[in-house]
Amino acid sequence: MNNNDYMIRLETAKDYREVETLAREAFWNVSVPGCNEHYFIHVMRQHKDYIPELAYVMEMDGKIIGCIMYTKAELADENGNIKPIVSMGPLCIHPDYQRRGYSKALLEHTFEIVKSMGYDTVINFGNPDNYVARGYKSCKKYNVCFEGDVFQAALLVKVLRDDALDGRKWFYHPNNADEPCGNTEAVAEFDKLFPPKVKAWQPSQEEFYIHSHAFLRD
Ligand SMILES: CC(C)(COP(=O)(O)OP(=O)(O)OC[C@H]1O[C@@H](n2cnc3c(N)ncnc32)[C@H](O)[C@@H]1OP(=O)(O)O)[C@@H](O)C(=O)NCCC(=O)NCCS
Repeated sequence: MNNNDYMIRLETAKDYREVETLAREAFWNVSVPGCNEHYFIHVMRQHKDYIPELAYVMEMDGKIIGCIMYTKAELADENGNIKPIVSMGPLCIHPDYQRRGYSKALLEHTFEIVKSMGYDTVINFGNPDNYVARGYKSCKKYNVCFEGDVFQAALLVKVLRDDALDGRKWFYHPNNADEPCGNTEAVAEFDKLFPPKVKAWQPSQEEFYIHSHAFLRD
């Protein structure tokens, strides 16, 4: 997709390091001091649930300023029926280009492709402020929870068809693509491949803590 400003296109292997560098710039100090999203993207590309057909970049003047990725995940109902869905993320826009509607464009572009692949539900775990304007709703509205009836505030659901979810309880089964990010030594080792950057505290980290530790009730 082209408009006067930017081009949205599939990521290629040649883009890998540029995309990881972009993710590091965008996520640095946002949720925690430093970040691991560049490593997450790096390892996720090898995961069985990674969907390369949905890895898109936004290019401007020959530079990648945004990216979005998806992986396969599942919803399971109380009878064990499984519904394949996709999990969105990471999504990021370079800090110099934020608040201009670019992530909206990446989301809307890829939602159409997600739909054409036969999926009708997208889930992600993130800050609701970034997503409610894109039609994401609280997981509670669709009766989607983690195992143990855990409805987390950061669990957000976007349906791509009105009848995608029918009100029955669904348990979200994320994939384990982010598991390697728990290895802090591997993350630190990978980070050495990039220019030095200072880890620091900023208020968005407290915001992230609150969102990711908040639970919903009726
Ligand atoms: C979050 C992020 C992807 C948004 O990208 P963006 O291109 O700046 O977003 P857009 O300009 O398309 O705006 C998206 C919507 O979110 C809202 N929004 C964006 N940033 C916001 C913020 N910091 N606080 C509140 N609302 C915000 C906007 O109001 C907009 O809604 P609108 O279309 O009704 O105006 C970008 O800021 C980013 O890369 N951040 C760092 C990485 C990150 O946190 N990624 C998301 C992981 S949960």
